[in-house]
Amino acid sequence: MDPSVSGLTQRLAEAGQSHLLQFWGELSPEQQANLTHDLQGMDFKEINGFFKNAMEVSSSSKHEKMDARMEPVPREVLGSVSRDRGSLKEWEQAGLHHISQSKVAALLLAGGQGTRLGVSYPKGMYDVGLPSHKTLFQIQAERILKLQQLAEQQHKIKCCIPWYIMTSGRTMESTKDFFSRHKYFGLEQSNIVFFQQGMLPAMDYNGKIILESKGKLSMAPDGNGGLYRALGNQGIMEDMERRGIQFIHVYCVDNILVKVADPTFVGFCVQKGADCGAKVVEKTNPTEAVGVVCKVDGHYQVVEYSEITLATAEKRSSDGRLMFNAGNVANHFFSFPFLRDVVQKYEPKLQHHVAQKKIPFVDSQGHLIKPDKPNGIKMEKFVFDIFQFAKTFAVYEVLREDEFSPLKNADSQDGKDTPSTAKHALISLHHRWVLNAGGHFIDENGRRVPAIPSLKDGTDLPIKCEVCPLVSYGGEGLEELVKGREFHPTLMIDEHGVHELVKNGV
Ligand code: UD1
Repeated sequence: MDPSVSGLTQRLAEAGQSHLLQFWGELSPEQQANLTHDLQGMDFKEINGFFKNAMEVSSSSKHEKMDARMEPVPREVLGSVSRDRGSLKEWEQAGLHHISQSKVAALLLAGGQGTRLGVSYPKGMYDVGLPSHKTLFQIQAERILKLQQLAEQQHKIKCCIPWYIMTSGRTMESTKDFFSRHKYFGLEQSNIVFFQQGMLPAMDYNGKIILESKGKLSMAPDGNGGLYRALGNQGIMEDMERRGIQFIHVYCVDNILVKVADPTFVGFCVQKGADCGAKVVEKTNPTEAVGVVCKVDGHYQVVEYSEITLATAEKRSSDGRLMFNAGNVANHFFSFPFLRDVVQKYEPKLQHHVAQKKIPFVDSQGHLIKPDKPNGIKMEKFVFDIFQFAKTFAVYEVLREDEFSPLKNADSQDGKDTPSTAKHALISLHHRWVLNAGGHFIDENGRRVPAIPSLKDGTDLPIKCEVCPLVSYGGEGLEELVKGREFHPTLMIDEHGVHELVKNGV
């Protein structure tokens, strides 16, 4: 339909966005229909408001580093896998009890575009090259299945952990199709709920929406904090309420070691009476690019490393550790009432963060330009921006080598957070599980490989060993399979038993 007839021309003019129709006459009827469809779904006043606020906040924060306003996480809200060993079992048991009552849900943030990894499909479909070639989605699905079984066995009651999966407009179809092709990895289809986060247009520094081609706006997901709006407008809170969900574990797709719906974390947060919690690992390198959980002006927040000075990042406490060392691993706990309040009351108060980007655009002559320096912004909300509204906040510190190895970048020499580092992290964790359960590895000469390999003799590479999550969620239940036995790598332990794969099978 002619945009002047539908009122679109006028709406765009009022919002200062008339340039979006500048190539209208050159578009095919199909392109015109698509553009009209995209534009009609947009609230330009709201978008212009987001731009204005986001730019104001970002320009003021540039001049004012957070440093003076930051305090570390106080000891009383902190639980730690290494310092509170005596309480772990109790927390785990409490978490398993809540799981057995079907009160715990897992919520996966999978709406990102995986730009740094450089694949065109959703990151959860990535195979890092494990012996089993399982994808991140499959590993997570099997952990959920196993956890349900553990809770069921212990409490003699059938239960389920619903899995909410947030995708974006770009990843929804391929994600759903992948799950359907793999028969939901053995989970009940009705317990996996896909929902879609919103998208926002990229804008130039003058607040004009950028065209990526003559008939198409440059759009991107609205950040993982887009979660809260999506939970509200896609009926997800009602779904949780109907199922009686009380506790939600929210996590990111890219961490191969993630303990989905981790009973110990859930049990710890519930015992602390927390409405919101964050899992952290100790940050040991001041320049590591992870956000740190801390208090700013008395409220909990994650401060990204770019927001503080190096001097603050390097500050140490009397015990020699970094003062701001609670590295955010993007694993969060929410009570249902808190999440509902966030969705209903607090979400609109969140400001968008500004990311300056090189955004390909068509110029006024209709030429496609790929800029070599940033020419505009993308606006994103962050999932942890709602920590500030928590009444009781809890922080749970875990060991990096057991729980955190994110997949961010493509493989490169000495690369960080790559498919190779993720694969090695999982294999070396499973190697340790087998050793802890009393198993041993032997080399090609039949000699036992020492538990702590010497760096000199070339045995410093991780032993190749993979344990299927359907056999063990967190290292439990392996004694009867491995105790006192000797294995050649590559060792596979799965639901069919214990096998040694052909040499160099990885
Ligand atoms: C994130 C954390 C950072 C933490 C790090 C640990 C945020 C904002 N930052 O950083 O504090 O130290 O993980 O690995 O959480 N996603 C969406 N929709 C979007 C954008 C992202 O669902 O619009 C999802 C991604 O699919 C992914 C997760 O959010 O699962 C994290 O996104 P990413 O952009 O990779 O965050 P980081 O910058 O790595």
